[in-house]
Amino acid sequence: MAVPYLELKSEYLEIKKEIDTAVSGVFERSCFVLDENVSSFEKEFASYLGSKHCIGVGNGMDALRLALLAGGVKAGDEVLCVSNSALASVLCASTIGAKPVFVDVEYETHNMDAAKIGAKITPKTKAIVPVHLYGQPADMAPILETAQKHSLLVVEDACQAHGALYKGKKAGSIARAGCFSFYPTKNLGAYGDGGAVITNDSEMAEKISMLRNYGQTNRYEHAIEGFNSRLDELQAAILRAKLKHLDRWNNKRREIAKLYAELIKNEAVLLPAEKEYARHIYCIYALKCAKREALMQHLKKNGVGSLIHYPIPAHLQAAYSHLGIKKGALPITEKTCLEELSLPMYPQLSEGQVRQVSDAVNSFL
Ligand SMILES: Cc1ncc(COP(=O)(O)O)c(C=O)c1O
Repeated sequence: MAVPYLELKSEYLEIKKEIDTAVSGVFERSCFVLDENVSSFEKEFASYLGSKHCIGVGNGMDALRLALLAGGVKAGDEVLCVSNSALASVLCASTIGAKPVFVDVEYETHNMDAAKIGAKITPKTKAIVPVHLYGQPADMAPILETAQKHSLLVVEDACQAHGALYKGKKAGSIARAGCFSFYPTKNLGAYGDGGAVITNDSEMAEKISMLRNYGQTNRYEHAIEGFNSRLDELQAAILRAKLKHLDRWNNKRREIAKLYAELIKNEAVLLPAEKEYARHIYCIYALKCAKREALMQHLKKNGVGSLIHYPIPAHLQAAYSHLGIKKGALPITEKTCLEELSLPMYPQLSEGQVRQVSDAVNSFL
């Protein structure tokens, strides 16, 4: 039997009744934009994260963009980013005219290396966007310390970290704002696009609420220039149903990660490690292997799907060639991008499937 890299239908079937009821409730009510499901989801997700405000937006990239804008980032500013993430983690800064400045990552966690931030700060630096990559929070304490010293805004990219913990606090709730994506493959995924910003800062929350809805304060009254980036009612209703299962699903992912760690014994691969400050929620199970392409082919021959996150770092993408950053500029980032391979990781994987994946990895020479 093949083990696909990802399989979303089994999750739907597991909670089919709840999803179908949620969706038909929206059709019955027939108010599709900014109605009771969005406001209830915002309250429920804020409460889940221990944060004061949650603002539902169109997707994770907009969550980041609107948080940066509301935090005062503008064209010409510099924003410290990482290069080994979904490109949205960088586009959020560059598409508002700010310059992304890349900080290298730690080899072990793939996350922003706090010790390398200082050297990248200039008088133009305005913000830092640490990504909690693969579901393990970045080491936020030294990042926040540096930010405070230089009066920088910190926006957490928690798009892969729904329910992850940093020193007991929910990822996304640690800095001035935290941003989430509800892309279908996330630990809390919609059935389409969706996103949210969370913050304890009431002024920032109000600004983001305006920015997502044409800059409106009241209908047809526009205080600022804004966008159209709203979480829709259907997605919010689905997310409300799924949020009730998030902790159970995250625990299941952690059990699968534990089983992989017990079963996989191959010196050619380095498995993900959970740092003492983190509760990793394994949105992506990222191992490292110097012969990654060969491993991928071997897994495929054995019926096991895998995926690379991310093959080309942002600073080497054609879209950012104008930044003039040469290969070798971010050695650890580039090394992780050459070695990373993701194994199947979703709550509905059976123990037999995890064993099959592990056997396939173990038989790789
Ligand atoms: C780390 C990270 N940041 C940002 C995003 C962007 O989210 P979205 O696809 O919802 O715009 C994603 C999702 O792919 C992501 O994984």
